[in-house]
Amino acid sequence: MKKNTPNPTHLSDFLWDLWCVASIIGIWPRFIEPNLLHTTKLNLKIPKLPQALHGIKILQFSDLHLNSNVSDFFLRKLVQKIKKLSPDLIVFTGDFLCYSQMKDKIRLQQLLNSLEAPCGCFAILGNHDYEKSVSINPQGDYDIISKKRSMIKEGFSRLFTTVKLTKVVSPAAKSVGLHQELLDLLQQTPFKLLHNNTAVVPIKGSYLNLCGLGEYICGRCQPEIAFTHYDRRYPGIVLAHNPDSIPLLESFPGDIILCGHTHGGQINIPWMWKKFTLLENMNFKNGLHKVGTKWVYINRGIGSVMPFRWFARPEILLLSLESDS
Ligand SMILES: [Fe+2]
Repeated sequence: MKKNTPNPTHLSDFLWDLWCVASIIGIWPRFIEPNLLHTTKLNLKIPKLPQALHGIKILQFSDLHLNSNVSDFFLRKLVQKIKKLSPDLIVFTGDFLCYSQMKDKIRLQQLLNSLEAPCGCFAILGNHDYEKSVSINPQGDYDIISKKRSMIKEGFSRLFTTVKLTKVVSPAAKSVGLHQELLDLLQQTPFKLLHNNTAVVPIKGSYLNLCGLGEYICGRCQPEIAFTHYDRRYPGIVLAHNPDSIPLLESFPGDIILCGHTHGGQINIPWMWKKFTLLENMNFKNGLHKVGTKWVYINRGIGSVMPFRWFARPEILLLSLESDS
């Protein structure tokens, strides 16, 4: 008979949970804060907004990172909150998965199928959503990174190492394929994937451009392709998972850029957040920014690979468009 041997990953995760319970300081970021869900409401003035689009509500959620740590209770709360806000449009700005692993297929499909909006639901991919996960290797290059060890061990090793970004995308990252299983799943939900593509969405007799980019650290953020079908007569929302892609988008049209990826710093404590949130532009940790003529909103997202959040509550954004006259 085969003898059961303890899984070292599960054992270290269990020991981590035990430590969190035992230490007062760990209970909040491990068990309470990741289960809170904050709604940020934002009204943004858009120049030359057609009257028909005044008051249009767009719901953004991001960085779901669905895994076994995400409870059904939390997912139900998410759906109820979104339904209560009754948005005209729903957008998801990347990272459905953790490390490209499709472990919770049924729950992901059920979640996406329980959301609807009269003008449609749209999504882009994050760096965890390609055939293989792309992140930052020890040399600071953007590269294929597979999950080899416990998320907790990963977290601790990040805390005590310093990585300087080279901005180089490795040949392996550049050639990573799309995640066919995820694409097939999305086709069975209301969510339309925008991967370097623009949808011109009819709304109340007018139109809104919705442009979705591929992931920057895979070398797939290709605005010259994504904006091909953009109709400049109408305003536009741009979806880009990684805020480091913003400089590539400045010379293209679009009134608002919606991003995710950073988890709001995730462990949002001075010094520590910079260990977990490696960005080319560290100003793009979270919140609202103005870049040139465009608004940029960096959403804290709702999930995380490592189940730990400190001063970076999970967030959904309800964005209302307003005419500036
Ligand atoms: Fe993420």
